Amino acid sequence: MKTKYYDFQEIIDEVQLDEIIKAYKDGEVIAFPTETVYGLGANIYNDQAIKKIYRAKNRPADNPLIAHIGNMEQLYKLVEEIPEKAQILIDTFWPGPLTIIFKKNKEISEVATAGLETLGVRMPDHLVIETILVKGDLILVAPSANISGSPSPTTMKHVADDLDGLVYGIIDGGNCDEGIESTIVDMTGDNPVILRPGTITREDLEEEIGKVEIDESLLGASTKIARAPGMKYKHYAPNAKVHILKNRGDLDLILKKIKSLDVDLNKCALINFDENIEHYRKLEIPNKIILGSIVDLRVGIRNLFRILRDCDILGIEHIFIEDYKEEGLGFSYMNRLKKAANHNYLKES
Ligand code: TXA
Ligand code: MG
Repeated sequence: MKTKYYDFQEIIDEVQLDEIIKAYKDGEVIAFPTETVYGLGANIYNDQAIKKIYRAKNRPADNPLIAHIGNMEQLYKLVEEIPEKAQILIDTFWPGPLTIIFKKNKEISEVATAGLETLGVRMPDHLVIETILVKGDLILVAPSANISGSPSPTTMKHVADDLDGLVYGIIDGGNCDEGIESTIVDMTGDNPVILRPGTITREDLEEEIGKVEIDESLLGASTKIARAPGMKYKHYAPNAKVHILKNRGDLDLILKKIKSLDVDLNKCALINFDENIEHYRKLEIPNKIILGSIVDLRVGIRNLFRILRDCDILGIEHIFIEDYKEEGLGFSYMNRLKKAANHNYLKES
């Protein structure tokens, strides 16, 4: 399949917009930008189109998709009820990087929800996708627009690297502002539960609706099975082996590890915070990459997946990357990093 490219970085071309809306209605799958990461969308009412997403991404069939909506009317078409606290979250955080799990209504097929009785919904905060959803009166289900298991795409090029030739179209809407996927909060039980942390933190949610739990599978060395089916899979992983370092990691330990790995220094990369450049000055690794500033973790989060993908392009085999306190945004950063590293910490042993 020859993938069509649409450049909406500067302006949204009306003719192309109509072509895209028609293609979605005809059952094609097209990748689109959002404020979090790029998504690969299909019409929620077309099972054949949704199956194309699973095939293109090589996504396990038990992993449900998130519905993307452009206005509240569309939400009413999807769900049985909107709990009071969910309404508060909607009023506060939509459009924005928050996915809310609702009880789905009967019209939503099992293909979209992978057999679950619930449906994750979010209203993205990005002009391009918002225009498509509203003008086309479309509801699109979409996972991140990457091959399953690789870091989520935060630029059009990332999507093209993974999916060129496998999907009908890719829309370029520039670089994603947030850089990691939306926070997912389950509002179907007695208490709200975070199933995936994102840039809207537990603290942000608690300020609005009081106590919010965190799914046990996300805590510590838990062996509990994740309630967001997708969270149990190996994820966000570059080709390189990732080693998590303590902030201002021990240089001798890094060198010892590199030696024991018997790997070319040119195939190692150090990813550290801006403030720690001086600390690593003596470490003779040619690939030193700055993640962002310690004081504004948003920047590091925005850069994380892009840097992991860049390391693959450079042919890096071992990545050493600094950790962060697992609080607030740091909890979300470490959630993605630990998955990318398969929980591999650099330590004395
Ligand atoms: O920011 C985002 O959420 C991006 C953009 C494209 O919107 N989408 C995204 O989709 O990250 P995906 O498919 O890569 O991740 C969706 C996650 C998976 O872990 C899935 O298991 C979980 O959401 N999920 C979806 N529906 C669910 C449901 N009904 N109950 C529990 N978890 C659900
Ligand atoms: Mg994904």
